Amino acid sequence: MTAAPSASSIVPAARLRGRLTLPADKSIAHRAFIIGALSGGPTTVSLGSPGGDVVSTIGCLRALGVSIVKEAPGRYAITGRPSRDATVDCGNSGTTMRLLAGAAAGMPLSVTLDGDASLRGRPMERVANLLRAAGAEVTTTEGHAPMAVTGRARLAATTHHLPVASAQLIGAAALAGLSAKGETRIEAPGPTRDHTERMLAFTGVAIHREGATTTLTGPARPRPFELTVPGDPSAASAWLVAAALHPDAQLTMADVGLNPTRLALLGLLQRMGVEIRTRVTDVSGPEPMGEISVRGGRPLHALTIGGGEVADLIDELPLAAIAMGSVDGTSEVRGAGELRVKESDRIAAVAAGLAAIGAEVTELPDGWRVRRGRPRAARIATHGDHRIAIAFAVAAISGVASAVELDDPECTAVSYPGFWADVAAVTA
Ligand code: S3P
Repeated sequence: MTAAPSASSIVPAARLRGRLTLPADKSIAHRAFIIGALSGGPTTVSLGSPGGDVVSTIGCLRALGVSIVKEAPGRYAITGRPSRDATVDCGNSGTTMRLLAGAAAGMPLSVTLDGDASLRGRPMERVANLLRAAGAEVTTTEGHAPMAVTGRARLAATTHHLPVASAQLIGAAALAGLSAKGETRIEAPGPTRDHTERMLAFTGVAIHREGATTTLTGPARPRPFELTVPGDPSAASAWLVAAALHPDAQLTMADVGLNPTRLALLGLLQRMGVEIRTRVTDVSGPEPMGEISVRGGRPLHALTIGGGEVADLIDELPLAAIAMGSVDGTSEVRGAGELRVKESDRIAAVAAGLAAIGAEVTELPDGWRVRRGRPRAARIATHGDHRIAIAFAVAAISGVASAVELDDPECTAVSYPGFWADVAAVTA
């Protein structure tokens, strides 16, 4: 494994070339392990380089009594359903905590979900409320983790009106709905990624999404399955932006998940003028996968985004900010208040980082306004947030900053364990 760079070592690359295989998509991987455990097995999940968040999900399921055995490199055999009361450590992963809360709500178990300092700061009352409405007993610590869930084998079929467009909340409500007799209906205020729906349907559960409403008919138990998790399109996004902003770049990513609900950044970059091509080459269970290639060296245009566009872009907005900060015209992001309650306050972190690298930026309550300035070298406060670290590494590699030093380069491993090795490979 290539070590993270030491102080002030991320500088603009002379050129970017390569063909990359990315770490497993964490959204799909969390669901594969949790739904695999609910199936009782034998289920087999294969995946490349699980990041720290997925390792947290595996650890939590094992603590609940599920057997997850690494049979071969990257291949895990899952047998047995959650069967033990436990306090589990979700680490840095909000998806682990919210999905497991939903799964635990529909089982006769007492599970306390805890996590690191960042996760303890994130809102859990919204998921607790959904599960209480379905009949589980849930207590939070003043709205946060630790969160205690006392589940029941039979919950009530419920219509949920979600306060925010969140795939984690849909996932939690749907997993609880597996234990409810009748129709669980989940109405979201906007579009989100649809991995829960795809994977439950793949395992034989009567679930579908129409517009922003998901309905599931229970009770239902997912069937055991075999799945290979595709590469993470959010990890691919780092290279799309790095190449797009670089004058001499050509990169290809293979075996990437190409679920359309995850490709909003591609569309955004294409609207800015970037040349990107995708090719579906295969399917992984219910998910399309294939190749993405990108070329740099084209002039980019400024743009404004907001409203319903934001939820599908949510994890990619720090990278989008770097692209926007490379353009002469003014770009704006609005309606992205959810970014304030991610692994860090990503609006504050992005605005501070962009200002530090010389962009002209204004922080807004729900986004930012930014244009190119004079590139500078800066030390970036990542707040231990993998997406902030990766975004500002990309700023340096592509030349939007003249050099970047990250205060915590290792935090990239939460979603992208091989990030620094890939940086070395494409800049060599
Ligand atoms: C995720 C959903 C998103 C995203 C997170 C993963 C998921 O959160 O930010 O990284 O796998 O369901 P919300 O949908 O809660 O905003």
